[in-house]
Amino acid sequence: MLISRRIFAIGALSLAGATLMTPALAQAAAPVISIKKDPWCGCCTGWARHLEQAGFAIDVEEIEEMETVKDNLGVPTELRSCHTATIDGYVIEGHVPAEAVIALLDKRPQIQGLAVPGMPLGSPGMEGPAGRDPDEYNVMAFDGSGDFVFMRFAGHQRV
Ligand code: CU
Ligand code: CU
Repeated sequence: MLISRRIFAIGALSLAGATLMTPALAQAAAPVISIKKDPWCGCCTGWARHLEQAGFAIDVEEIEEMETVKDNLGVPTELRSCHTATIDGYVIEGHVPAEAVIALLDKRPQIQGLAVPGMPLGSPGMEGPAGRDPDEYNVMAFDGSGDFVFMRFAGHQRV
């Protein structure tokens, strides 16, 4: 059974969002990030909101067959998480912080995309109970021939 529902949110360019953007993102019109998620995934919605707050326009499509989506987009098995997104020719897998997506669009490396495998506690959309230390985790780059560390975070903070 395939459930597909589209929710389109344009802009969300609040003053708060605008001040969070890097000059590179602020200059161009905010690129739309297309997010595919399971209809029952709450942390995916949290991640979508995180991107919106960082100034991205989001397009959310709810799909049950997320493994097929990942297969079709070439997301390596070992890097998989919950939601899968695309922006400007790149694939974004899992709870990748907006800061890493902005750096990707700024540097435009020759890779397929970025991934945060699993669901680290404290990553955007995976905020845990107050008082708990967030996990440290890697944002991995993948390019079809291998994976390498693109950035490292603890919760929302780059380390
Ligand atoms: Cu998740
Ligand atoms: Cu998700």
